[in-house]
Amino acid sequence: MFTNSIWNAHAANQSFSELNEDLTVDVAIVGGGITGVTTAFLLKERGMKVAILEAREIGRGTSSHSTGNLYAITDNLLEPLRSKYDKEVVGKIVRARESAVNFIEQTVQRFQIECDFKRLPLYLFEDKNEKDLGAERKRAEEAGLGTADLTEPFPVSGIKGFSYPDQAQFNPLLYIQGLAKVIEGENCSIYENTRVSDIDKTDNGFILKTTGGRVTAKYVIQATHTPKGVELQYHTVLGPYREYGIAAKLQSGTYPEGIFWGYFNGDKFSFRSYSRGGEQYLLCIGRPHKVGQAKDNKEHIQELISFAEEKFKIKEVVYKWGGQNYKPADLLPYIGRKTSNSNELIATGFSTDGLTYGTLSAIINTDIITGRKNEYEALFKASRHNPAKASKEFIKENFDVAAQLVKDWLSRGSDEQLKNIPPGEAQVVKIDNKKVAVYRTNGGEFRAFSAVCTHMGCIVNWNNAEKSWDCPCHGTRFDVEGEVLEGPAFDPLQRIQE
Ligand code: FES
Repeated sequence: MFTNSIWNAHAANQSFSELNEDLTVDVAIVGGGITGVTTAFLLKERGMKVAILEAREIGRGTSSHSTGNLYAITDNLLEPLRSKYDKEVVGKIVRARESAVNFIEQTVQRFQIECDFKRLPLYLFEDKNEKDLGAERKRAEEAGLGTADLTEPFPVSGIKGFSYPDQAQFNPLLYIQGLAKVIEGENCSIYENTRVSDIDKTDNGFILKTTGGRVTAKYVIQATHTPKGVELQYHTVLGPYREYGIAAKLQSGTYPEGIFWGYFNGDKFSFRSYSRGGEQYLLCIGRPHKVGQAKDNKEHIQELISFAEEKFKIKEVVYKWGGQNYKPADLLPYIGRKTSNSNELIATGFSTDGLTYGTLSAIINTDIITGRKNEYEALFKASRHNPAKASKEFIKENFDVAAQLVKDWLSRGSDEQLKNIPPGEAQVVKIDNKKVAVYRTNGGEFRAFSAVCTHMGCIVNWNNAEKSWDCPCHGTRFDVEGEVLEGPAFDPLQRIQE
C-alpha cells in the first residue's frame, strides 16, 4: 500500500484523546512529531505545564516518513557548508548534531525505549567523481569528525568513498511513541486529532483555537515542520521537497548493515536495512522533487524501485511512501524565537536531517524558554536574516514560486473533461473560468474543491502516487477530502457544492 511507511507498519498501538475543553498551560506545542514530543519531555522535566496539540496521530507525520538515520553531517555534505561558513562554524554544526544523537541514545537507555537503536557507520561513496569525496573527507577531518576507509566486501561495486564510524539508526516512530508514553500525565497532556486553526497573540501570551477547545498559553512552539500561517520571512527562504522511500525483501536474504549514502551519476540514493519480528527489509530513499511539481509522482517511485532492483535484486517491494522536507536557503535550520522578543518559537528548515535537528531544536527551545544559556542558540537563531548566505538560493526559490504562479494562472487548464477522469484519479479543470480540483472516487463520485491553496493562493497539483493535492509554492498538501495533511495552510480547500 502506498504512503504506508515501514515505521507506520512496525509501530505500537497507541492513541491519545481529542481535546474537548478549554485549557491553560505554560507552553502549547503545535505538532506531535519528534520535535514536539522531545520538547514536551524537556519542558516537563523543568517543571513547566505543557500540552501537545497534534492534528492527526503522534509521530505519524513526517517523523515516521523519514529514514530513521541519525548522523553528525548534513544531507548537503560539509563542502557546501564550508563554502558559506568558516571551519569553526561547520565544526560547531557537527558537534551540535552529535550532541542530539547522543541525547537520543541516552534517552533510549534511560527509559528503556524499545526502538531498535544501534550505533553503526555512515558510508559515503560515489561511482563518478562528481562530489569529490576526497575534499569532503578533508572537510570532515577539519570539522573534527573521525573517518575510515571503506572495507571489502561492500554491498555495491565500482564505487569509492569513506565512512563515518559511530553514527546511529533507530525506528523513529517507536522512539516517539515510547517517549510520549513516558511523559503523558501530570503537567503534560497529549491530544490527537486536535487541529489548531488559529494562533492569536494576547497581552499575556497566546490563545490557540483548535477543533476541540481554546488553549491559553504563555509560550507557543510551532513544531509543525514548517510554521503554520503566512510567515513570509520563513516561507520565502524554505524550499519544499518531496522524496520517496521503499522497503523491500531481497532475493539474497543478505541485508547490508549501516547507513549508505551513494551518489550514482550525481543522484543521491540512501539505503539501510531494518529488522523486526524476524523480518528483514532493505530501505531505499531517493528521487526528490519540489512539492507539487512532479509531472508523474508514480514515475519517481518506479525509478527508485528500478534503482533498488538493479543494485540489490529485489524479491518483493513491501512498503512505499513519500516524505517531505524543507530546505533552508542558507543551509541552516531556523530554531528559536520568531522575532527577538517573541514568545512564539519555531523549529523549521531541517532539510532531510529532521530527526537530529528536531531533537536539537527541542533542546535549544527548552533552554530559551527556561532561561538557560545554550551554546548553539545563536547559530540557528530563527530571527536571523542572512541575505549574503542565502541570496542565490533565496532568489532561486522565489523565482520558482513566482514562475509557478504565472504557470498556474496563465497556461494551465482549459480542460473540462470530467468524464475522462478515471476512478481513483483527479485533475484540475476549468469550470466557469475557475480552477477546480476534481477527484473521482473509486465508486465514481466526484469531490470538487477550489484549486486555490488556502495558504497564499497558488494552484494545487494532483499527486497521483499519494492521492493528495500538493501546493507547489510552500508545500501544503491536502487529502482527497480537502483537509490539510501538512504544510503551512490552516484551512482546508474550499469545497464546491454539487
Ligand atoms: Fe503557500 Fe500553497 S502552500 S500558497
